[in-house]
Amino acid sequence: MLTIHVLARPHLMAQVSSLVSSNPDWEMEIGRRTNNLRELLSWSGNSRDVLVLDDGILASTPGLLDEVSRIPGFKITIGRLSESGSARRALALGALSVVEEASLEQELPRILVGLQEPEKSPFEPYVIAVYSAKGGVGKSTIALNLAWALALHSEFPVALVDGDPLGDIGAMIQDKPGASLADVVRGLKSGLSEAKALQSLHTIKGLSLTVVPAASDPRQADQVRAEDLGQFLGAITKTHAYVVLDLATGLSDWNLTAMDRSDQILVLAAPERVTLGSVKRALDILIHLYREKLAVILNRADSDTGMDLPEVEEVLGYSVHHVLPSGGSAPARAANRGRPLVLMDPKNLLARALLSLAQEMVAAREGSRRRPRRWILSR
Ligand SMILES: Nc1ncnc2c1ncn2[C@@H]1O[C@H](COP(=O)(O)OP(=O)(O)OP(=O)(O)O)[C@@H](O)[C@H]1O
Ligand SMILES: [Mg+2]
Repeated sequence: MLTIHVLARPHLMAQVSSLVSSNPDWEMEIGRRTNNLRELLSWSGNSRDVLVLDDGILASTPGLLDEVSRIPGFKITIGRLSESGSARRALALGALSVVEEASLEQELPRILVGLQEPEKSPFEPYVIAVYSAKGGVGKSTIALNLAWALALHSEFPVALVDGDPLGDIGAMIQDKPGASLADVVRGLKSGLSEAKALQSLHTIKGLSLTVVPAASDPRQADQVRAEDLGQFLGAITKTHAYVVLDLATGLSDWNLTAMDRSDQILVLAAPERVTLGSVKRALDILIHLYREKLAVILNRADSDTGMDLPEVEEVLGYSVHHVLPSGGSAPARAANRGRPLVLMDPKNLLARALLSLAQEMVAAREGSRRRPRRWILSR
C-alpha cells in the first residue's frame, strides 16, 4: 500500500486527494496533509512513501529545500517545467518527476500507479533436482512421474526440465514437442524478454505441466552453459511453482549450478553394491555443499537383490529418506508407449508411491502455511 503525503495549497490539496480516493482499485491512501512546510519537516517518513509537493509553497521557503530533500520517500512536485526556478527546486529535492498543474489529472495517477509494489506471486517456487551418480537408476522415470503427479495435485503450474544434454524426457512423453531449454536460452541471449522466450514451451493439454526437453539436437544442448541454465531457472521459477529437474550423472558445473538453484536434491540409489559405492562417493562430496537439501531415495527397494534397507544404509553410510518400490515391467512399458506411468497405470505400486509422495509435497506447501517437510541427511 502506497501512502501519499501532500504539501499543497488548498485548491491543489483537494485535487490530489480526490484523484487518489476516486480509484478504489489502487493500493494507495492519502497520509498526512498540510500547507505548512515546517509541519512537513516534523513528520517522519518511510522510504516507500510518496510526497506530493506544491512548488508554489517550496518557492516561498527556498532555505528549507535541503531539509526537504532529506525526508525519505519518492518526491513529486507540482510546478512548471518551463520555469527554471521550478525545475531547479525539483532537481535539488531529487524529485522523481515534475507534474504541471494543468495536466495533474492525467499525469499524477500514471506516476503513482507505476510506484505501486509489483504484484506478488501467489506461490514460492520449489525446485526439485533428481540426481544419481550412476546411470539407469530411474532418474528420468521418477522425475517424469513425480512432475506429472505434482501437476495432478497442485493448483499451480509445474515444469519438468530435462537437465541431461543426452536426456530422454522427450522420448518418454510422445507429445507434440515444444521449445527446448536450448531454444529458450538462445531466445534470452538474443534479447527476448523472459515471458516471450518461455512462450513457446509446450504444456500438456488438460494439465498445468510444461515439459522442457534439453534440445532437439544434443550438439545444441552442449552450447547451453551452466550460467545459462541458472538464468533459465531464474525465469521459469517466476511462472512455475514446482520445477522438477532430471539431471545427468556426474558432478559437472552444470549439475552443481542446478543443485545450487534447487530446494531439494533427490539422490537416487538402488539396492546394489556397485551402485551404492558410486552414490556414496557422490554423497561424500555433496554433503559438504548441500546437507540440508539432500534426500536419499532408494528406488526398487523391494527388488530381490539380497540387500535389505539396514544393509543398504550401512554400505551407503547415510540414512535413506524414502523408499520406492519396483513397478515391475510397467514403467518400461509406459516409457515405450511414450506415456507416464502415473497416467497409464495409476494403480501400479511405483505409480501409487509417486502419487502419494507428490500429494504429501503439495499438502505441505499448499495445504497450509507450513513449510514443507525437509529431509535432512544424517550419516
Ligand atoms: N521403480 C522401478 N520399477 C521398475 N522399473 C523401473 C523403476 N525405476 C526405473 N525403472 C526402469 O529402469 C530403466 C531405467 O530407468 P530411467 O531411464 O528412468 O533411468 P535413468 O537414471 O534416467 O537412466 P539414464 O542414466 O540413462 O538417464 C527404465 O526401463 C525404467 O522403466
Ligand atoms: Mg534418464
